[in-house]
Amino acid sequence: MFPTSDRATYIYKENMNSAERLKVVKKHVIGGAHEPHIHNRAIKGVSQQEERKYKYIHVRTVGKGSNVGYIELDRPSALNALCDPLMLEVSNALDDFESDDSIGCVILTGSNKAFSAGADIKQMAPVAKYADIYKAKFLSQWDKIASFRKPLIAAVNGYANVMAGGCEIAMMCDIIYAGDTAKFGQPEIKIGIIPGAGGTQRLPRAVGKSKAMEMVLTGDPITADEAKQYGLVADVFSAKDLLPKVIEKAEKIAANSHLVTSMCKEATNKAFEMTLAEGLHFEKRMFHSTFATDDRLEGMMAFIEKRKPNYSNE
Ligand code: CAA
Repeated sequence: MFPTSDRATYIYKENMNSAERLKVVKKHVIGGAHEPHIHNRAIKGVSQQEERKYKYIHVRTVGKGSNVGYIELDRPSALNALCDPLMLEVSNALDDFESDDSIGCVILTGSNKAFSAGADIKQMAPVAKYADIYKAKFLSQWDKIASFRKPLIAAVNGYANVMAGGCEIAMMCDIIYAGDTAKFGQPEIKIGIIPGAGGTQRLPRAVGKSKAMEMVLTGDPITADEAKQYGLVADVFSAKDLLPKVIEKAEKIAANSHLVTSMCKEATNKAFEMTLAEGLHFEKRMFHSTFATDDRLEGMMAFIEKRKPNYSNE
């Protein structure tokens, strides 16, 4: 449960109990000593133009038309563990992309080593009592990912992990594409908690009850190929081709009417919330609503006139 690296072992004294170890974690590890330095690095298929205003993430636009948003988690010292400031940055970046009409799809990714190792255990360990975590509405900030209105793709690489909260934020996205070395797991049970951001709810819907139970009760991860076999991911690419392939997919999505794409996403998500009859009713009303948009007429006229549609997102 506590850090086991050489550095952490060094700062613990022998025979310390959990409470004494926690003091060490508070003093030496939490809040600063391990924060990442800000850096830029070359990523295949991703332009390096970036206005760096975030500490834990890189945010850019990518794609030939710069109409795809790109958010890369970058907290390497903690395998992209999802501390509050990182999640706040992700939430702010999503807000910016949501209000930018030129953006038709967003990619959320991590590093080649890790998409994310989940919620920050060193942030959670010192929580003293239930009331504190309840009043702080811990994890509620994460909901922004699930409520984002534009298509959101998780591009997950990492032989180390798509673990716990990392797996949960990937599942909040609309599509998951994986590098062939990625592993997916919900290991919370091993540290005395249960998944808290959808692992017990979205995972069974994605992979079925038996596999989900096995994953949350043992904490054992599955490979990218298994994740595809069970329907958790849409496709698996070689780790080095993942981003270029995902950018291609995102460009394809962003080429459609952004307005109607959001309606399509909303209707599809209702499949997880409603009975079939309610969902079909909602879909029909949403389908009728597309006739109130300029883009519906533009799309149909472009088909008839054998040309590319020029959507106004109106
Ligand atoms: N929180 C904080 N720090 C973390 C972390 C996490 N979730 N995961 C890894 N780190 C830190 C490690 O402490 C280590 O830091 P130090 O060098 O300072 O010791 C560094 O990242 C590298 O980690 P490892 O040395 O452990 O790397 P590894 O390659 O040997 O193992 C791993 C990778 C299997 C993912 C392992 O790091 C691990 O098991 N991490 C914890 C995963 C986990 O249990 N997550 C549950 C989070 S709870 C949650 O997410 C609740 C929820 O539902 C929202």
